[in-house]
Amino acid sequence: MTKYYLEGGNRLNGELSVHGSKNAVLPILAGALLTEECRIGNCPRLSDVTAACNILTNLGCKTTREGDSISIDSRGISNCEIPDGLMQEMRSSIVFLGAIVARCGHARISMPGGCEIGDRPIDMHIAALQKLGVAITSEHGYLECSVRKKLKGATISLPFPSVGATENIMLAAVTATGDTTIHNAAREPEIDDLAGFLNAAGANIKAGDNGAIHIRGVPKLHGADYRIIPDRIVAATYLCCAAITGGKITLTEVEADHLRSVIPFLEETGCTIAINRGTITLEAPPRLRSCGMIRTMPYPGFPTDAQAPFMALACLAEGTTVFVENIFSSRYKHAAELARMGARIKIEGRVAVVEGVERLHGATLRCCDLRGGAALVAAALAAEGKSEISHISHIERGYQDFDRNLAAVGANIINT
Ligand code: UD1
Repeated sequence: MTKYYLEGGNRLNGELSVHGSKNAVLPILAGALLTEECRIGNCPRLSDVTAACNILTNLGCKTTREGDSISIDSRGISNCEIPDGLMQEMRSSIVFLGAIVARCGHARISMPGGCEIGDRPIDMHIAALQKLGVAITSEHGYLECSVRKKLKGATISLPFPSVGATENIMLAAVTATGDTTIHNAAREPEIDDLAGFLNAAGANIKAGDNGAIHIRGVPKLHGADYRIIPDRIVAATYLCCAAITGGKITLTEVEADHLRSVIPFLEETGCTIAINRGTITLEAPPRLRSCGMIRTMPYPGFPTDAQAPFMALACLAEGTTVFVENIFSSRYKHAAELARMGARIKIEGRVAVVEGVERLHGATLRCCDLRGGAALVAAALAAEGKSEISHISHIERGYQDFDRNLAAVGANIINT
């Protein structure tokens, strides 16, 4: 198993381009099942993207990668099951459920278990699909789903704006008979991207007032050529890496508008941010200030996925930072690892209180999840001495060439 070896202390300086969004490409690859042939551009090379392509292949689709584009031909779909092995590779494979039932009329999917950031229940996905006419039973660890006649549009009010449930409903409803309205739908940019892709393939999806999404069912989708949005969490992570090292970085191929709730917190720490068309430049002060209180919220609030990288910043910032994690129940596993480097963090339930220290020291660390792993790298870049970080496969799920990119802007990091 490969590890990262880092020596902290180098200021990051230079330019990095931001790859396509993992959380946008995964549901769009599921949406490819509803089309005939399509080509998706700006697809990052990530293990989660490979896992999604393996699911498509297992269902009978042909997938071909050329550069940063993936072409999917789903005309030969021959299977409607996602076996346990593929489901375990990526918990968010549940987003394939809506697309498979819409395409095949039935689906058999291994039940997703819990994951590194807490229980990941799927009750909202199931209740919504049932409203659209899917009969669902659970047997021997598998969800057995079938559509009696045809999927039928419905009005669905989500109790919480779940990203995955909103995507599953969209995928199931685009070719259903009649209209579907999702009230309290998630509004993340990745939802807009899924709607953009499906509309490019002939769907009729519109954003309504007060966070509703309206879908008018169409008989079928045709092919599409579509480009994925930049990954806002990767962008936020690189900005944190530059900030914590007192560095200066310019990100290209980035959408600053998607980082509206993140940038003010970086400014609060004393960083200067300049936004130009498609670029963000951050210049950090010699010592960061605390950014007060960070509450994670559904978009357009502060993203839960950026909580861990910001906690790395808070560990070295002057003053106390309070985090309130409102989205996931168990998303502070990185705190114990940061503490091994000398960070002062107290956790009580969903609240973490981080008292900034003047220096962190290198340590032997273990990634517990994707964003938490990236936070450990950020902290190790600024720590005194050497760090060894294991279980980096978590990081490879969501960051393409993370070590090489950081090294290109001055980090002392190798992967062996
Ligand atoms: C997606 C993102 C993930 C991000 C999260 C929140 C992908 C592949 N992953 O995850 O990176 O952190 O959005 O922005 O896009 N919940 C239920 N029942 C359900 C569904 C969700 O209780 O049926 C709960 C979850 O346990 C969690 C909260 O709702 O506490 C939000 O989850 P959700 O928005 O669905 O996140 P994901 O789609 O899993």
